Amino acid sequence: MSWIDNAVIYQIYPRSFADGTGDGIGDIAGIRSRLPYLAELGIDAIWLSPWYTSPMADAGYDVANYRDIDPLFGTLAEATSFIADAHAAGIRVIVDIVPNHCSSQHPDFLAALAAGPGSPERELFHFYDEPVNDWQSHFGGSAWTQVPDGQWYLHMFDPGQPDWNWEHPHVRADFEATLKFWLDRGVDGFRIDVANHLIKDLHAEGGWVDQEGVHEIYRSWRKILSGYAHEPVFVGELWSEPSALAKYLRPDELNTAFNFPFLIASWEASALREVIDVTLAVPATPTWVLSNHDVVRDVTRYGRTATEHIWIMPPTGWESDLTLGTRRARAAALLLLGLPGCAYIYQGEELGLPEVEDLPRELLQDPRWERSGHTDYGRDGCRVPLPWSGTAPPFGFSSGEPWLPQPASWASLTAEAQAADPTSMLSLYRAALRHRPSGPFAWLASTPDVLSFTRGDITCLVNFGSTPVELPPHQSVLLSSTPLVDGHLPTDTSIWLHTP
Ligand code: NOJ
Repeated sequence: MSWIDNAVIYQIYPRSFADGTGDGIGDIAGIRSRLPYLAELGIDAIWLSPWYTSPMADAGYDVANYRDIDPLFGTLAEATSFIADAHAAGIRVIVDIVPNHCSSQHPDFLAALAAGPGSPERELFHFYDEPVNDWQSHFGGSAWTQVPDGQWYLHMFDPGQPDWNWEHPHVRADFEATLKFWLDRGVDGFRIDVANHLIKDLHAEGGWVDQEGVHEIYRSWRKILSGYAHEPVFVGELWSEPSALAKYLRPDELNTAFNFPFLIASWEASALREVIDVTLAVPATPTWVLSNHDVVRDVTRYGRTATEHIWIMPPTGWESDLTLGTRRARAAALLLLGLPGCAYIYQGEELGLPEVEDLPRELLQDPRWERSGHTDYGRDGCRVPLPWSGTAPPFGFSSGEPWLPQPASWASLTAEAQAADPTSMLSLYRAALRHRPSGPFAWLASTPDVLSFTRGDITCLVNFGSTPVELPPHQSVLLSSTPLVDGHLPTDTSIWLHTP
């Protein structure tokens, strides 16, 4: 048993959570000031997207110094105090580690550029006289960029994010030192960015993902964790097929991985049932996630006709019915929190924030926007600063101007407004975290449009069908995502029943 086996983990995207310094960008001071909010919500842990020194070519996923904090977010001393404060509030802290690539401003990459072709410094990266394959960057365009002396280097993401060469012992030793650096400062784990990319076969089609050699890295990393008494854990970010994914979850590798098949499943009983079955068949802690800083917010996704569409793309055909989306997101929250295992909440999900789809194009910062030749609007719409209080932007997020504008319509979605409303999304999340079931999981018989399972003495039902369904015998209703209709469970609604 580990603390993560049934933890609720709240993802903080630092630049958009809370701004304590008034520059319009969220920071550690802001996060510290909102710890009481998180404690009241009832979460067990925070996962922080990167806070390291970075030129921000990809909002911090381009790291120039893995062992220091970017001045935008604060200082190393503040980070250490924050970890202690979180622990004092009963909240663990998972930090992001970005091992596939660094920043083109990382001293090792600058040294490689300066040292020139054929130098040992270039061996830390993938430098060649010409591109050795035709791989495309995940952000659009070629994955190879030429430097002034004529050589090319590999970057699976932005040119500002050169890929490390994990065959090199220095890279391995350096990351092990980074893991220990943060473990010694008390962090409770690491979320591993693109965890399936580290080892590459440059000559194989798809040779950038799920190569066998990556498992040996995680076996050695896991040994480092076992040297720490506070049970730190790894969470892999792996958009891999379920069969490949299970390999990373062997007992001596990663503790958990994000369940992206659950995130991309359409809002249908059969699709979700299948993902739940596949997930529970893997002998590792299950996880459940509906959104994060890379995908369209779930309220918007669930209001689309194609509920599995996770990107913002050009507007036609992607319209969303937000009333429907919110209703389904409420039902999905009780499904997510009703299942056994570790559940993730992305900041603002507990407020039911929709994607901001109409951000002024000139303000877009996600490299996908430029790299795609302005065809992919990128991920900024799920990264808009949180609305905390008041009736107009910046809604208590900052005393300055937020780095992305918040819609005026968010006045009704602030944490302050929702805390006062027992029917709000925030109140639903708070209640669900208080009453989260913990007993063993078993499916109950149901019609095809209904998911029904027990967790000990709690029964959870989700109605995906178009007609209300009868409730099974029960002692009391613990929580319902929308009100019952004549004692029946209406469409797109979840319920938790006490059935001792
Ligand atoms: C996955 C991260 O979640 C995403 O935000 C980032 O752009 C890529 N990895 C590259 O680091």
